[in-house]
Amino acid sequence: MIAQFPADFIFGAATASYQVEGAAAEDGRTPSIWDTFSHTPGKVFRGQTGDVACDHYHRYGEDIALMKQLGLDSYRFSLAWPRIKPDDGPVNAAGLAFYDKLVDELLAAGIDPAVTLYHWDLPQALEDKGGWRERDTAERFAEYAAVAAQHLGDRVKRWITLNEPFCSSILGYADGVHAPGAQEGEGALKAAHHLLLGHGLAAQRIRSAVPDAQVGITLNLASVQQVSDEPADVEAAHRSLLIGNLIFTDPVLAGKYPELGKEVWAPITDFSWIGDTDLATIAQPLDFLGVNYYFPSRPKAVAHNEPDSGKRVASDLGFESLIHDGEYLTEMGWPVDASAFTDLLIWLRDTYGDALPPIYITENGIACPDVVGDDGRVDDQDRIRYVGDHLTAVSAAMDKGVDVRGYFVWSLMDNFEWARGYQPRFGVVHVDYDTLKRTPKASFDWFRNVIATHEVS
Ligand code: NOJ
Repeated sequence: MIAQFPADFIFGAATASYQVEGAAAEDGRTPSIWDTFSHTPGKVFRGQTGDVACDHYHRYGEDIALMKQLGLDSYRFSLAWPRIKPDDGPVNAAGLAFYDKLVDELLAAGIDPAVTLYHWDLPQALEDKGGWRERDTAERFAEYAAVAAQHLGDRVKRWITLNEPFCSSILGYADGVHAPGAQEGEGALKAAHHLLLGHGLAAQRIRSAVPDAQVGITLNLASVQQVSDEPADVEAAHRSLLIGNLIFTDPVLAGKYPELGKEVWAPITDFSWIGDTDLATIAQPLDFLGVNYYFPSRPKAVAHNEPDSGKRVASDLGFESLIHDGEYLTEMGWPVDASAFTDLLIWLRDTYGDALPPIYITENGIACPDVVGDDGRVDDQDRIRYVGDHLTAVSAAMDKGVDVRGYFVWSLMDNFEWARGYQPRFGVVHVDYDTLKRTPKASFDWFRNVIATHEVS
């Protein structure tokens, strides 16, 4: 089957500041929660950190040359908040200067910059005051967003407020597997709400600074497959949809919180910290929705702690995602199902109708056990298959009327995969972490051809 993409469809690649930049203590950058977390023994695979990462901070010129060779229309990257507003203090000119250079060189190479404001690197100084549990952090985020938009908005027109607030709130404040490593109930729900509030406030500030900005948010969304008709599994599917999607999509796209959430979490909070006008602020009109998709969700009911047991954190809703016997799993341990991607996009359209703005796929990709062969090449056929199948799945959703405008592969290059360190490799460019040498993989050449022809065959 051949998937053909419209001439104005945008092809891009994505990264994030803490995962690629390095230069953790340079030019006035102060620690983020990820510096603290990665330097805490036992939190990240083999104690690895983002201190050096891909050294993109110094090698961005070489990286932009690779992007140009690839033929990218757009490069999605994030700004490091602790470079721009370190310690919640005054604006750091040296931090902004780095992004000036990056943006100017991208534009000179004919590549459109797509900026994410928050890809998880909260200044540690703000976490010390309560982090996303506090309403004030949403206000501080909006201030930082205004600074960034005022400074870069003459050249950057595509703005993404948050990346995957599910991960920042639930993985960070309930499961404790991401920074700041908290395991809380109410704290995680507050974090989710204040992230969304920060999104709404930031969107307002970006619009007033950059009237022709395209503003959106990136959500990682679950494509939920009900595993059986057993009542417990039906309930598990509802709960998976709740925590995977609805607690983010409903407020952002419909200005409400889902009823099931109020019910499920009633034992751990009374939600009195939600202000009267918060939902109106969160539901800002958006120019696009960024969707990140990697794997299907197959919630199977399991025994769990009840919310009032005192042990339960916000994420323990009594299900686990099913893995089939012998099924192929990626290096992350994730199953692969491209048709679930089509289903997710159609679910979004069917659920939100006219309230759904155009969609960009802001991330999709696979971690493979890539090695540089004796011939100096990385033959990542699994990645070519995965990205090809998922682009075809996007095209299938477009054929069914879903308005998708672009696709950003995750990632441009191998990088720091959070708690998993440098072990999983997601790039279309291989990075040797000893020498920092970049080697384009077979998928790089394949993707360049897709971009050139706007076709996957
Ligand atoms: C989503 C996150 O936004 C990104 O930072 C991460 O590396 C990829 N998924 C892969 O797990």
